[in-house]
Formats: sequence, C-alpha cells, structure tokens
Amino acid sequence: MRIFNSNKEYGLVGKLFHWITFLALLLQVPFGFYLVGLEFSSERIELENIHILVGITIFYFTLFRLIWKFFNTSPSETKSFFIGQAFIGKANHFLLYVSIFTITISGILKKLYMGETLNFIFFKYGFKKDNFILADAYYDVHVYANYLLLALVTLHIFAVIAHHFIFKDKILKKIL
Ligand code: HEM
Ligand code: HEM
Repeated sequence: MRIFNSNKEYGLVGKLFHWITFLALLLQVPFGFYLVGLEFSSERIELENIHILVGITIFYFTLFRLIWKFFNTSPSETKSFFIGQAFIGKANHFLLYVSIFTITISGILKKLYMGETLNFIFFKYGFKKDNFILADAYYDVHVYANYLLLALVTLHIFAVIAHHFIFKDKILKKIL
C-alpha cells in the first residue's frame, strides 16, 4: 500500500488519520456527555483531565492531518449524479474539520478562562486572569459544535451508504 495519496485513493497515512480520528471521536463524544452528568468528585476531575488530554491530542492530530493533506494530492472526485454533489461533499469535509477545531479550541478556551493551567503535552500554559462569562460562552460553543459534528458525521455516513448502494461507485475503496 502506498504511503502517499494517489489519484484513485488515500494512502496509508491518510487512511490512518481518517480511521484513528473516527475511533477517537467515537469514544470522546459519548465520554464528554457522560462526564457532565457526574457528581463533583476526585474521580470526575481525573476523568475530566483524561477528556482534556485526549481532546488536545485530537487537536494536534487534526493539525498534522491538515498539513499532510496540504502536501498531498487528493483522490479525484467520483462521478456526480446530481448538480452540486461535489460541492456538498467538499463542504461536508471542510465543515468536519471546522467542527473538530471549534470543539477542541473552545474546550481549551473554556478551561483557560476558568483560570486553570492546561497541559498542552509539549508545554503548560494558563491565562493570568479568569473570566467566567467568557468561560461559559466558550462552553456553549463546545456543546453546539459537538451537535454540529454529530449532524455532519450523520450526513457523511448517509452519503457513503448512498454512494455504495444507490450510485454503486467505488467511494468506500478510497478510504479502506
Ligand atoms: C467521526 C466520524 C468521521 C469523520 C469525522 C470523518 C471525516 C472525514 C473527512 C474530513 C474526510 C475528507 C478527507 C480529506 O480528503 O481531507 C473523509 C473522507 C471519507 N470518509 Fe469519513 N469521517 C468519519 C466517518 C466515516 C465513516 C464511518 C465512513 C464509512 C462508512 C467514512 C467514509 C469516508 C469516505 C469513503 C471518504 C472519502 C470521500 C471522498 O474522497 O470522496 N467516514 N471523512
Ligand atoms: C474532539 C475533542 C472533544 C470532543 C468530541 C468533546 C466533547 C465533549 C462533550 C460532548 C461534552 C459534553 C457537553 C455537554 O453536554 O454539556 C464535553 C464536555 C467538556 N469538555 Fe470536551 N470535547 C473535546 C475536547 C475537549 C478539550 C480539548 C477540552 C479542554 C481542554 C474539553 C473540555 C471539556 C470540559 C471542561 C467539559 C465539561 C465537563 C464537565 O462539566 O465536567 N473538551 N466535551
């Protein structure tokens, strides 16, 4: 299997980026919803720290993924079956990236505005002053961006199913 993308399909690195992100989000989204329902305790703080560390890792991972994408050819578009199909596909992919960055950056800003020092893996950083109004606002962004991500992933998966069973093209082979 090729490391780099070709005109026909994603290379090994592109595939790994896609499926590792998929698995990480499959765990991280329900984990976040579970976390907010917990009573305040030292166990909850520990779980929140894991959520934050995984979230910051997803942030770096997505950044590397975009850098990799930038230096690679993208597999060519599959044949369109209706006007605007290619645009919808591109917009879906673009917004998936936007939602992942919005979720991670708003989570980070929420914690920083709470006045906490965060472990960014390579360094630690905290704001000098807290601002609870902004912390609450960024938390709202965190929650709504998660709903946006869920809607986009649903559309993404429906599109793949439609391609496979209705349009009968080889779109899945690009990423498997
Ligand atoms: C958390 C869930 C998922 C996310 C965030 C996600 C995200 C993405 C993104 C951003 C791309 C564009 C890659 C690029 O060129 O930069 C992509 C492509 C693709 N994804 Fe997903 N994906 C998810 C789940 C899935 C699942 C479950 C399937 C299969 C059932 C799938 C099948 C595909 C296929 C076939 C492509 C290639 C589309 C094309 O090049 O036209 N994805 N995905
Ligand atoms: C892609 C990565 C992430 C996903 C999918 C995600 C998802 C979620 C979800 C679904 C919730 C529950 C929201 C609610 O219903 O109220 C949540 C809560 C939370 N997230 Fe994230 N998150 C991610 C990254 C981060 C990051 C990077 C941080 C901070 C650095 C963070 C900090 C928090 C905090 C503090 C809570 C509230 C937990 C509590 O109240 O104890 N998240 N997250």
